[in-house]
Amino acid sequence: MTIYFAPLEGVTDVIYRRTHASCFSGVDKYFIPFVSPTHHLVFTPKEKRAVSPAENTGFNAVPQILSKNAEQFIWAAKELHALGYQEVNLNLGCPSGTVTSKGKGSGMLRDLDTLRSFLDEIFMHTPVNISLKTRIGFSDIAEWSQIWDILSQYPASEVIIHPRTRQQFYKGSPFHDAYAHALQTSSQPLVYNGDLFTIDDCRALTERYPQTSALMLGRGLLSYPTLAQELKGGAKLTRETLRDFHDRLYNAYLQNDPKNVALIRMRVVMNHLACCFTEPGKALKTIRKAQNDNAYLQAIQQLFEEYDMCETPRYYGPDELNF
Ligand SMILES: Cc1cc2nc3c(=O)[nH]c(=O)nc-3n(C[C@H](O)[C@H](O)[C@H](O)COP(=O)(O)O)c2cc1C
Repeated sequence: MTIYFAPLEGVTDVIYRRTHASCFSGVDKYFIPFVSPTHHLVFTPKEKRAVSPAENTGFNAVPQILSKNAEQFIWAAKELHALGYQEVNLNLGCPSGTVTSKGKGSGMLRDLDTLRSFLDEIFMHTPVNISLKTRIGFSDIAEWSQIWDILSQYPASEVIIHPRTRQQFYKGSPFHDAYAHALQTSSQPLVYNGDLFTIDDCRALTERYPQTSALMLGRGLLSYPTLAQELKGGAKLTRETLRDFHDRLYNAYLQNDPKNVALIRMRVVMNHLACCFTEPGKALKTIRKAQNDNAYLQAIQQLFEEYDMCETPRYYGPDELNF
């Protein structure tokens, strides 16, 4: 089973990716959260660092581009190719209002003529493999068959399908029939993404759709960092390996950022890692309230010492954990 780590803007930054890859195995590609080129045709310092090969060593990384402008996409793809990347991923899924209002991300699924012209241009002039990551519509799943008619015409190296509409954000169930429709008619390798939180979820998906070429895991892998490793028969998560991952991540953020910023980053990470414990709600509240290094480490110590770990990967949704 081929497993990809989904791009998660604000969480799977370069420090996270490096630390995860140095602690755990099983991830075949780490997708880098999007860079968003502008007419200035320069990457910001943050983007430069995010895609720097020197920062992304020890694992396979794939950069992602968020753009509706073919010239800017091609410029970014060429820059990334010059850095050594053999694949760039086009974001057709981001649901954020600030992105879709500019016609980018899943906003591109609203105007199919423009989408077609954009894809014509980029597939003609990009010197590197292009993979696509898409939702199945903007407001309605009925849009999918027309969208898929277009996407399936291009020589994408892979198409990653998150079978929800933009309207759904991350709510409701993924619409598996839309994925099945694509599988029936696809000549491109298809990757499934969406709500795979446990080993059973992943196995059920690949048993139901054996033509699936890879699974992309997002929140499930954030919440249980050995999900990919365990799927491939590797070691189960233990209190010690989880603590080691936490400590390495926290120390790396402390070396990189001011203390208060490191704490903010760790709170985001802990919102997910708390899923490794049974009923972690109270401990998580204390972690979230911690205003300094000491209080934070005390709360972490309490979580690791006093709470039972889950036997197998599980995911508490935002409602349960109140993220
Ligand atoms: C906080 C957050 C940030 C995300 N950032 C990106 C991104 O930069 N690019 C992208 O294509 N998808 C992004 N996504 C979507 C995920 O890659 C993934 O498609 C989504 O979480 C569904 O997969 P999951 O159910 O396995 O989590 C983001 C999702 C979340 C929750």
